[in-house]
Amino acid sequence: MGIGLRKYQNSATPSSSSSPSSPGLGSNSTSTFTLPDWKLDTSTAYRISKSWNSSATATTRVYNLTISEVAGWPDGYNRTMTVINGQFPGPLIEVNMGDRLIVNVQNNGVNMTTMHFHGLFQNGTNFMDGTYQISQCGIPPGGSFTYNFTVPDQYGTYWYHSHYSTQYMDGVIGPLIIHSQEEDSLIGAMYDYDQVVLISDWYHGLAEGYLADYLAPGNENTEPVPDNGLINGAAFFNCSLTPGASCYQQDANRTIFNFEQDKTYRLRVINTGAFAEINFSIDEHPLTLVEGDGVLIQPTTLHKLAVAVAQRYSVLITTNITSTDNFWVRAELDQYCFATSNPVLVDTGITGVLAYTDNADSAALPYSNSMTAETDSWDDVAANILCLDLNNTSIEPMIHIQAPAATVFYRIDSSFQIGDYAIDLGYINGTSWKPASGTSVLNQAYEMLAPGLSSAVVDNNRTELLNTTGPLSLGVFGGNQNQYVINVPDYEVVDILINNLDDGSHPFHLHGYKFWVMGVGAGSFPYNQYGNLNTTNPMRRDTVSVPAYGWALLRFVADNPGLWPLHCHITWHLEAGLLMHFEVQSKKMAQFEPPAAWAQLCAA
Ligand code: C2O
Repeated sequence: MGIGLRKYQNSATPSSSSSPSSPGLGSNSTSTFTLPDWKLDTSTAYRISKSWNSSATATTRVYNLTISEVAGWPDGYNRTMTVINGQFPGPLIEVNMGDRLIVNVQNNGVNMTTMHFHGLFQNGTNFMDGTYQISQCGIPPGGSFTYNFTVPDQYGTYWYHSHYSTQYMDGVIGPLIIHSQEEDSLIGAMYDYDQVVLISDWYHGLAEGYLADYLAPGNENTEPVPDNGLINGAAFFNCSLTPGASCYQQDANRTIFNFEQDKTYRLRVINTGAFAEINFSIDEHPLTLVEGDGVLIQPTTLHKLAVAVAQRYSVLITTNITSTDNFWVRAELDQYCFATSNPVLVDTGITGVLAYTDNADSAALPYSNSMTAETDSWDDVAANILCLDLNNTSIEPMIHIQAPAATVFYRIDSSFQIGDYAIDLGYINGTSWKPASGTSVLNQAYEMLAPGLSSAVVDNNRTELLNTTGPLSLGVFGGNQNQYVINVPDYEVVDILINNLDDGSHPFHLHGYKFWVMGVGAGSFPYNQYGNLNTTNPMRRDTVSVPAYGWALLRFVADNPGLWPLHCHITWHLEAGLLMHFEVQSKKMAQFEPPAAWAQLCAA
């Protein structure tokens, strides 16, 4: 990409350069805004071509992702970031259902890394799931690893991110789109353009620093509150709030969506953040929901869309409003989920601008700190005090699948408890997760399983009947008290009841599957209603919020062999220990054929 392609007119940009050496507020004359090298131009890079051929013969698609540290300032505030291919946010990965995806990861950063493809089934390739010390050992600085797998049986909107500690918060994230003929035939005709929209919270420092504070003795689960939020990797920030810091006001640019008038756009909204639930909306433009977590949804219209961390939705908007040309795009961080406040976060309503391109002044600017809108927010949805995500009973998959009756039931109690040294940790059925020491849990299991030791791996926590009271027996891996593993019998239909005993809501994510959301509620699970749950086409997804002091009942068919984590996707909570594993079909796991490089990572 030539440098000339990366210059844009920005009518109120005070400085003629965006280089870090010339920050500050100068004159207000028109000048050129140069996109910093580290900043991905998402107006082009995240536009998905409508002429993509979803019925092409299955092929192999190769992506090279190099991890490195750069100085970057997504909202003007200069900090160290960890990024992919020198840019933030990460590149769009696109494949067809049925393709083979090869992702070469080269780690030129200073820490370990791994890459996880969120929501992908990885059926037969559990060792490519990219979870640090769970499905693989880390890729050390200077090292590399090739992820190589097929995507035979799913499509829609996904994302990828580092699954090493809190690293993804520093910038190791990107969108992953799986096209398919089926999806095209069901919804392709409904829209003219297709655009990825990443929304996230944002912190002004490296995540590892906040993590140390969060896990320090005496801190009772007070999560660090973000400094800002981002829309496609950019946002406005008022640099005067952080005097003395390197903050480039002229580069505190909002993302501008230059859309043609009278067209319908598919927006693929992905919460790539760490902590905050986000309400997404566009002033005066109703959102027609058509997809959630890679599942097509019967179109349903709403104004504000609550997106928990790691969830994805596709919404359609039509650019047919005639009252004005510029509209606020809003990503409102739900401050009710924050335990405290951050003086730098003066406005939780993060904004971008939707600009109709018939307004000649606005055309072609992908980022701007001067373009604004006069429009008002939809007022029909109050702030979400309970931090609930979208009510899953209000949406219905387009493709009907009846939830089969469950044959096995596991109760998962999730809590925070103050333990040794006054450190507050997350517990699942009494076990607080930490990355395994030595080799990854899957490497250990595979070594044991391959010679045919299938049942000696874990205790079997199967409960034939509803376990409504009393403590649960623990299934721990190899005597390691930090690894809680439930060994699921082959092909059972599994119910997981997550009891959230904590005062915050938790977006729980299950790797390797989509589950049916059988129910979500406040208080304790109504066991007397267990027989009356709706089994007719409930929403299927991979991430769901479990309300504070509430519960969620998830159902899945245990047909995908592997070691699959279930965890809270709030990175602070994950690192505090809110993770457990399901081990499925260990006999098939013994037949996995991981590449030699996979085992070699553990020797590095
Ligand atoms: Cu999106 Cu275990 O992760």
